[in-house]
Amino acid sequence: MAEQPQERKCTGLVVAAVCTIGLAGFVPCVWPVLRRNGAPLHFTNANRTNLIFSQILPKLLSPSMKGRLFIDLGSGDGRLVLQATAHGMRGVGYENNLWFVLGSRLSAVRAGRMTWANASFLRCNFWKQSLLKHRPGKSEQLKQRWLTPGTKITTEAVRADVIMIYGLGHLMHPLRTKLEEEWRIDPDPSRDVVVISNSFAIEGWTPLTVQDQLFVYSLKAQMRDKQDVITHTHTSTPAHTQPTN
Ligand SMILES: C[S@@+](CC[C@H](N)C(=O)[O-])C[C@H]1O[C@@H](n2cnc3c(N)ncnc32)[C@H](O)[C@@H]1O
Repeated sequence: MAEQPQERKCTGLVVAAVCTIGLAGFVPCVWPVLRRNGAPLHFTNANRTNLIFSQILPKLLSPSMKGRLFIDLGSGDGRLVLQATAHGMRGVGYENNLWFVLGSRLSAVRAGRMTWANASFLRCNFWKQSLLKHRPGKSEQLKQRWLTPGTKITTEAVRADVIMIYGLGHLMHPLRTKLEEEWRIDPDPSRDVVVISNSFAIEGWTPLTVQDQLFVYSLKAQMRDKQDVITHTHTSTPAHTQPTN
């Protein structure tokens, strides 16, 4: 029997809806790679995740990882942020792909009350965020108030203890510039920020350690070294300009 025009219209609408939803998920995934301002769609593997949370951070955040702020720039499916909360940290993921953000939030809910309370996934372009500080939004505050009644809810911006990135090599230079600028504007020499880059070194910085292609840096040490170089250059007057009596 021939398909009725009404049925054909409905089928067309369903196909159009499926294509739109598919494209909405696909385009944000490949667009950053196509535009070369994003990162490839790989996720940190189990071995490296384990290295970060069982070896690298326990040493660098000694005596305790509890309550420290872990920010993942481009959090993908949210695995690192969820691991951070599993180790007692507070985790924030900045991610520009809506589907990843929704999936990560769902994973946080499924992981239980405490994970849900301590993990936040924000849909945004991390280049437009302050990287060294995170100010909890209204919805984050509400969620924490609801899930952990009785605990003190922070409305102030909180300084990051760990910044993680798994990006492309050409992102490392702008990332370094942004981190250095933010530190210069608002330094806090009383504490450090651990910067971990998966797979790509940050040119011009000296890593504290490199393990299985995880490049680990201390931002404070980088800035101190830079300061030393600047001070040294300014205080040592070149021989030909030295005053003569
Ligand atoms: C290589 S994946 C890494 C995911 C996760 N951090 C991990 O290590 O498993 C990079 C992620 O960064 C996201 N991304 C790329 N550029 C971004 C930007 N400017 N702002 C927010 N997210 C971005 C991509 O959508 C992708 O999910």
